[in-house]
Amino acid sequence: MTDMTLDLRDNGMVVGMPDGETYFNYYWLRDACESCIDPQTRERVFDASELTNAPRASTAMIEGDTLVIGWMDEAQASRVPMSLLRQVAGGGRAVDPAALPRKLWYHDHLPKITRVDQNAVLETGEGRARLTRALIEDGIAIVTGMDKTTEALPRLVNSIGSVTPSAEGLFFDVRVEIEPTNLAFTAGPLEMHTDLPGEEFAPGVQFLHCLENTVDGGLSLFLDGAAVAEALRTEDPEAFALLAGHDIPFFYRHNNWDYRAHQRVIETDPDGNVTGVTISQHLQDNMDLPQYLLDTYYPAFIKFIRMMREERFMLRFRSEAGNCVVFDNHRIVHGREGYVAESGSRHLRGCYTDRGALRSAYRVLAHQGYDGTATDQQAIA
Ligand SMILES: [Fe+2]
Repeated sequence: MTDMTLDLRDNGMVVGMPDGETYFNYYWLRDACESCIDPQTRERVFDASELTNAPRASTAMIEGDTLVIGWMDEAQASRVPMSLLRQVAGGGRAVDPAALPRKLWYHDHLPKITRVDQNAVLETGEGRARLTRALIEDGIAIVTGMDKTTEALPRLVNSIGSVTPSAEGLFFDVRVEIEPTNLAFTAGPLEMHTDLPGEEFAPGVQFLHCLENTVDGGLSLFLDGAAVAEALRTEDPEAFALLAGHDIPFFYRHNNWDYRAHQRVIETDPDGNVTGVTISQHLQDNMDLPQYLLDTYYPAFIKFIRMMREERFMLRFRSEAGNCVVFDNHRIVHGREGYVAESGSRHLRGCYTDRGALRSAYRVLAHQGYDGTATDQQAIA
């Protein structure tokens, strides 16, 4: 027993917490009872809709670090860990090890990009945690030492999550094709874009495994779209509000497919934080916002696109055979300089997984004690 105060009311109770009194609704407390979760399947086995009457506490006491609640209409008391109440009182949400703040980056990020060897990712929890943490925080990382075979990519992806299919299937090859279905499959320059905005849910994490690159030119371009969006918010708040407030149409169309979806160019969460961007001029459909709105939307849109060409944001590097660039397709904007097709061979093999799989992988690793911050020596030990 402790001397914390418990004030039972009609629809909930006020619990005296270390940082002050906090109100908890009875439905929420009944749902938070430890017995609601099946220990084997770990799924919820209690259904609040089956209660005859709204739950109402008749007694409440604190035993050790557990709140024990007796209910008016139920014989069984509920036990709710105080640690859960403290989490909710503190931030409204349960603690999430994958809720790591984004670290915005700029043109000087190249030497700081997280690089993890393929074997460390495949064989060690810390290696996988380092990769997945970098993808959550920075949105980009490079896996080095990849085998130069087509099997290497699925092996790497599957260490994090399942491959997310797209119109191209499970995997795609970026190289010069005779009848290209996409500008990527030519030797031309590729403007800064995120992939597949015409899909209802564009894939979340992209892998580009470089199998061969001996051509002149064809440098890979990357920038942090969230950093550009935040810069726009500072430099032109009205433009930011337009791009964050309206959906515009994108497509992916060819002989055998006709994908269409509306996306916001700047994605924000309910708190207004930038969570990502969607941009692709080569897959942008005819704007269908009201024509008068376009008088202000277009200048904002063009300003944002032009910012994405500025050197202050741009990383430029040569894709090396044996490396796999992994990046958040909703945040990191990528492109390519043109190259001379006859000067050699350039072959990148790509695929996607989703952001949910990425965060799931990191949470599991964090539960196992790997957080991706160990030094090389600690990781080996
Ligand atoms: Fe792309």
